[in-house]
Amino acid sequence: MGYNIAIDGPAGAGKSTIARLVAKEKGYIYVDTGAMYRGLAVHFLNRGISPEETDKIKEACQDAEVSIGYEDGQQQIYLNGENITSRLRLEEVGNMASKSSAIPEVREKLLSLQRELARRQDVVMDGRDIGTCVLPDADVKVYLTASSRTRAKRRYDELTEKGIPCDLAQIEKDIIDRDTRDMNREISPLRQAEDAVRVDSSDMTIRQVADAILALCR
Ligand code: DC
Repeated sequence: MGYNIAIDGPAGAGKSTIARLVAKEKGYIYVDTGAMYRGLAVHFLNRGISPEETDKIKEACQDAEVSIGYEDGQQQIYLNGENITSRLRLEEVGNMASKSSAIPEVREKLLSLQRELARRQDVVMDGRDIGTCVLPDADVKVYLTASSRTRAKRRYDELTEKGIPCDLAQIEKDIIDRDTRDMNREISPLRQAEDAVRVDSSDMTIRQVADAILALCR
């Protein structure tokens, strides 16, 4: 069994930035499970399926193989052997991932891959249900959160920097909608594990959050 650090939390709390940094400094592998759900979402969208077509999504799970690899230390997602990493951050992919991840067949598809990765090596794994479901015996569990306004502002700054026009109020509304969905689904909802340490990053720098997590790894 590898040393396992589990980081869960809502969209935009800074999980991937923090998890990537902690993994780098510890010399561990970073596993972004959201990217796996996004990978399956690309498969459903490729099939022309809409997020509401639950039966078609379940059926389409049967011929989807998601795997991960690393190029220059960056996680890559392969869908049936094809590298689809560049499509993962699209808005429609995130939306499909959030909706389709509520379907048991979709979660089942990825669970064993996630556990196997953590069994074989030291990992920092981030997602929504890592501490509660995927790795209940993780060595360190963190629930990373921030206010919806802070998370919206971070996303707004990120998009604005890329020259993409956007609206702060709309972004905050989308974030709240996604939180509601992720926290209220029946299977593996987003919630803080009983033995997880809660870190609110609203008024913390990236360095401070990373240091807080590194201090837990003793
Ligand atoms: O972290 P992210 O935005 O890339 O995740 C996309 C969606 O995938 C998210 O809205 C919920 C789902 N997800 C999940 O259900 N369980 C995980 N462990 C990770 C992500």
